Amino acid sequence: MEKRDLEQLLKEMSLKEKVDQMLQLSGAFYLGDENNVLTGPARDMGLEKEDLEMAGSILGAAGAKTLMRLQDDYMKKQPHHIPMLFMMDVIHGMKTIFPMPLAQGATFDPDLSKECAHAAAREASAMGLHVTFSPMVDLVRDARWGRVMESTGEDPYLNSCFAKAMVEGFQGEDLKEEGRVASCIKHFAGYGAAQAGRDYNTVELSEHTFREFYLPAYRAGIDAGAAMVMTSFNTVNGIPASTNQWLMRDILRREMGFDGVLISDFSAILETVAHRSSADESEAAVKALEAGVDIDMMTSVYAANLCRLVEEGKVEESLIDEAVTRILELKNKLGLFENPYKDADPEKEKKLILCKEYRDLARKAAAESFVLLKNDGILPLDLQKKIAFVGPYTENQEIKSSWSFTGDEKDCVTIKSAAREVFDAKRTSYHNGCPVIGKDVELIGFTGTEKKEISEQELQMMEEEAVLLAKEADFVVMPLGEHYLQSGEASSRAMLDLPEVQMELFRKVTAVNPNVVVVLFSGRPLDLREISAKARAVLTVWFPGTEGGHAIVDVLTGKTNPSGKLPMSFPYCVGQVPVHYNEYSTGRPNLPGMKEKFRSKYLDIPNAPLYPFGYGLSYTSFVISPVALDQDQMTKEGSITARVTVKNTGNCAGTEVVQLYVRDDFSSVVRPVKELKGFERVTLMPGEEKEAVFVIKEEMLRFFREDGSYGSEEGTFTVMIGNSSAVSEGAVFTLA
Ligand code: BGC
Repeated sequence: MEKRDLEQLLKEMSLKEKVDQMLQLSGAFYLGDENNVLTGPARDMGLEKEDLEMAGSILGAAGAKTLMRLQDDYMKKQPHHIPMLFMMDVIHGMKTIFPMPLAQGATFDPDLSKECAHAAAREASAMGLHVTFSPMVDLVRDARWGRVMESTGEDPYLNSCFAKAMVEGFQGEDLKEEGRVASCIKHFAGYGAAQAGRDYNTVELSEHTFREFYLPAYRAGIDAGAAMVMTSFNTVNGIPASTNQWLMRDILRREMGFDGVLISDFSAILETVAHRSSADESEAAVKALEAGVDIDMMTSVYAANLCRLVEEGKVEESLIDEAVTRILELKNKLGLFENPYKDADPEKEKKLILCKEYRDLARKAAAESFVLLKNDGILPLDLQKKIAFVGPYTENQEIKSSWSFTGDEKDCVTIKSAAREVFDAKRTSYHNGCPVIGKDVELIGFTGTEKKEISEQELQMMEEEAVLLAKEADFVVMPLGEHYLQSGEASSRAMLDLPEVQMELFRKVTAVNPNVVVVLFSGRPLDLREISAKARAVLTVWFPGTEGGHAIVDVLTGKTNPSGKLPMSFPYCVGQVPVHYNEYSTGRPNLPGMKEKFRSKYLDIPNAPLYPFGYGLSYTSFVISPVALDQDQMTKEGSITARVTVKNTGNCAGTEVVQLYVRDDFSSVVRPVKELKGFERVTLMPGEEKEAVFVIKEEMLRFFREDGSYGSEEGTFTVMIGNSSAVSEGAVFTLA
């Protein structure tokens, strides 16, 4: 549709019709009996029949046939035959589930995530969807927060690379293209900084930290063309994000130039009343509209109030026109006025879902995301040995993560089924050993409390059988981990340990067999002190998705050499959280030469995390040469080239993620001790060496200066290149 036709359409729409475009309801309202909904949930929400029939978009329903039918019904009733938008959380896959986003961050391979996002978009669009609420680009530092699994980690540069890649993977060049969906980046802004890691809690950040660390990934997503942005639940410096004019108008719209659709998070506008920042729903509606929030997700705050507020002269109708124009423009960009079903196609849906190509991609992505934290040489496994798989993830299909409800765990490959394809049946045994959680852990899922009852006696028997198998084996592989509901939304934890029932099993097994490899499932960094001390190898596999079992066996057997690097520090213990590598310099660093007592440190634990950002081992070894700079002076217009030679000094082919860190040695504002500015995956055969080359330009040295302006400052910079954020040796140049 031409722009002027859209303008004409807007003119012809009634005020009520416009306001209903700004309403998003759950797909569940449309899938059951309409009368039940009208007399039940819709009535409770203060919605009229007309709102239900005319809402401009729905969330959370999928399936080509279903959505085509809903679209037909809607367009028949809609006075101007405007098509409806179908949105959903397609976070790390639709039906083929790829590794969770934090795991994808561990690949340091944004191109691979772009492919995964494209595959997810193809499955989702064949199932009738138009928009995905993804990627979540919130920076995370606090492992207690359950949603760290949805982020790509603690680094603004890494997050920005993934934000761009995922948006491009979902959207492609043109939203009308087949197999593309619009991407909604979230949650604007700063949601990852919830105080004490407690979900939905207050966010208080200095503007400097907010801009330096938290905003870059949103900006990268917007620059990549994300069609939508979602608000966050939290306050930003005292004002809830969803009614925050400074955040939405000044920063998002003006500074970042975002002109797409801004949707509230689930009931976030209404929640400003609970924040006690809006007196009532009407005030919340006015404030959110004035902040430029176009769609109200799942409440009637807009639908039940805006028409009246316009009539009473309390809000300008032009603000509603502005919002509806953006919504209609999105529908138009998706080509819905010409083809309201977009790619919905039951045949294509059948063909694409879980096809071999996507399963292979999921297997590759999962294997690339695993991080080898410790290995004394026990891995890769010697298949001639007697091996026992003992632990609750041995035969467990719940390996998708809590943010992948579109996928079906029945499609997930377990470790046992994958291992059986490779390991000799006579020399290999399998036992879950215990349930994932014991009596001490209570979890609430979408459908209520998750508790699998198991008696003390049954547990004891399970353990005894498993320990016996462990005793008889040469090596024991222990697939342990958090329950998938221990991370994700509303799943904050104060302790970062494994369920006690699993630790008991671990202790019993290590007591009878010291040759233990732990395969660790988790949605977040955990306190791994005991596991690391007692196991001979630890492989973090996050929640790996549909092909998890295959990918794990690929890595355990050495078919795939691990190359993942931590996108988030694994703390020494919970008392250290939030811990991140890019901390600001203090006046009393914990360095030799300073008076021992009065340093910035703990009395009882080290400052360093157990495993730092960027860390991860390989089955081979690499040597990285000292950094060589092509010159030691740089002008603002010029550039400096930093080089290292990377050599594979081990016995098998492998990939090293070479990381470039830069430190601004002196500046008007205190800066991080180092910042990631580049990385490259270098694959080498045994004995082979290659150069990794990074070009440093002035724009990479910019920051928010003392006067609030953004730019670089003259002086010296230290360039460090290594295989984790623990690198310290570097070369110095001067920006003049
Ligand atoms: C989450 C969002 C999600 C939305 C819709 C909210 O609870 O915070 O990330 O997109 O629900 O499912």
